[in-house]
Amino acid sequence: MNTKPIIALDFPTPEDVTTFLSQFDEPLFVKVGMELYLQNGPSIIRAIKALGHDIFLDLKLHDIPNTVKSAMKGLAKLDIDLVNVHAAGGSLMMKAALEGLIEGTPEGKERPALIAVTQLTSTSEEQMNNEQKIPGAIFESVVHYAKLAKDAGLDGVVCSVLEAKMIEEACGKAFLKVTPGIRLAGGATHDQKRVATPQVARAEGSTQIVVGRAITKAQNPVEAYHTVVQLWEDN
Ligand code: C5P
Repeated sequence: MNTKPIIALDFPTPEDVTTFLSQFDEPLFVKVGMELYLQNGPSIIRAIKALGHDIFLDLKLHDIPNTVKSAMKGLAKLDIDLVNVHAAGGSLMMKAALEGLIEGTPEGKERPALIAVTQLTSTSEEQMNNEQKIPGAIFESVVHYAKLAKDAGLDGVVCSVLEAKMIEEACGKAFLKVTPGIRLAGGATHDQKRVATPQVARAEGSTQIVVGRAITKAQNPVEAYHTVVQLWEDN
């Protein structure tokens, strides 16, 4: 799996994406989220792929197993590299997602890696206890979901840097821990509550980092990207 920092392309239009990517003259690993995909569909994926970049399609699927399987079968045909589901959909749904990806991957191509969202980083412990009716500490639920994802055959999870070590202990080093909420030291935190630098993410066991605004909103995004790469790789 590509270990380059994953740039979150949180832009509203394909034109914004193209303008942003045109500044770079190297293959990147980028994340396309719901906003961009639901407005533009597979064409945005094909356009980014045509430029030679790897793609994490962050759609966080959560539905009945058969529907998720069919959706994944279609997504695998798009030649994406990484995709995700909600672990709360259960182990049958996660297994179905994996089957869909395997069935949909064209001959001679590698199956996209599949990771699970455990508890969203926007979910508080209070909300989890009172609304989801899951008792206990949030990290217990996160580790439980990570183990469930591993047992279902998934390749890893999306998690906060703060959870990466516990997940490494429970699921091993090779299990992917893809961590957003990354900032350069002294940079704006925006709406993220818990942030970490690339160096801390590496030390805590992240296998991939997702970086959005610290690169996309930088005065010089190419320079900011290279700073992140250096800090991430030099550890
Ligand atoms: O701009 P920033 O670096 O905060 O962007 C982080 C990206 O990672 C966004 O696309 C956000 O939706 C995503 N993400 C997150 N926290 C999660 C899951 C995804 O910030 N738990």
